[in-house]
Amino acid sequence: MSLAEFISSLEALLVAAETSLGDVADVASLEEIRVLYTGAKNGQLKSIQKGMGVLASDERPAAGKKFNEIRDAVQAAIDSAAVRLGSSAGSISAAKKLGPQVDPTLPGLRPRLGRLHPITQTIEDLKEIMGRLGFSAIEGPEIEDTWHNFVALNIPEDHPARDPLDNFYLATAGKQVSDPNALDAKLLRSQTSTVQIRAMETQKPPLRIISLGRVYRPDEADMTHFPMFHQMEGLWIDTSVTMAQLKSVLRMFATSYLGGDVTIRFRPSFFPFTEPSVEVDYFWNEQWVEFGGAGMVDPNVLKAVGYDPEEVCGFAFGLGVERLCMRRYGIKDIRDLFRSDIRFLRQF
Ligand code: DAH
Repeated sequence: MSLAEFISSLEALLVAAETSLGDVADVASLEEIRVLYTGAKNGQLKSIQKGMGVLASDERPAAGKKFNEIRDAVQAAIDSAAVRLGSSAGSISAAKKLGPQVDPTLPGLRPRLGRLHPITQTIEDLKEIMGRLGFSAIEGPEIEDTWHNFVALNIPEDHPARDPLDNFYLATAGKQVSDPNALDAKLLRSQTSTVQIRAMETQKPPLRIISLGRVYRPDEADMTHFPMFHQMEGLWIDTSVTMAQLKSVLRMFATSYLGGDVTIRFRPSFFPFTEPSVEVDYFWNEQWVEFGGAGMVDPNVLKAVGYDPEEVCGFAFGLGVERLCMRRYGIKDIRDLFRSDIRFLRQF
């Protein structure tokens, strides 16, 4: 065989391949044509390629070049026929298998989107509302020490809140539960008021912060109690912060969260870290609902963090997040929030 014959047989093959590919009407015939021309064992291209061996060695580079051109052209013609028939060029046989199995009348598979836990949603809402009132959100650790959880907050040693049976004191590596009155004794924080102390220890006044997070108390779980729950703590420190501002902030907060104009009521109370202290209620659906505790920051607390009570003052408040969330969504049992039952959580 001469080089000229070799080339003309390749060209004839291309013409034949292009003709049959131009007429092909279904994926199965396309596959047959593909095998006929480009099949790795008995394809026509393969047998022509074998003939290259009888060419003179100085003719082979030109022959190889032509062969590659024709092979690429045949492949391109197969690919475009595949595209025309709607199967993917690279995987005709896979497309052939898949083709008849697609039933366009079946409903599609809808991807199921997750959503935020109702408590997380509530926390996001509260942060957003308080953010508009100029409070920035900060976080504090859930493992605290006696100093931040009690002592700096002016809670004396004999206060019932410090009873070891009412707190989760921790045994640290190699140590038994240490003396709970040691300032560095570790416990799961029982209130987010700890973050007031941490904020004031690290920042200079003025200060306008909130902190939202988990707190822990060894309570028996029932419809309204759970050993872990969430609080929002607020703190505003400046040179002339007043009780009237406290009431305004809480009223604006309640109005934004609950919608509609909400009336706020202060009842005299006692907390070691505020003086005076109040319980806050709001009027909702014809009844007074407990909101949380609040007051003017006690001078002893300001002194504990190195602030001068002659120069700065402020208010603080603490609210239960679950209570707000449950009221908003009509949830009756706090335990439902933490059972991780997807059928329950999916509703919110
Ligand atoms: N820490 C209190 C509690 O857990 C709530 C509280 C009351 C926080 C009064 C405050 C406050 O900041 O001023 O019951």
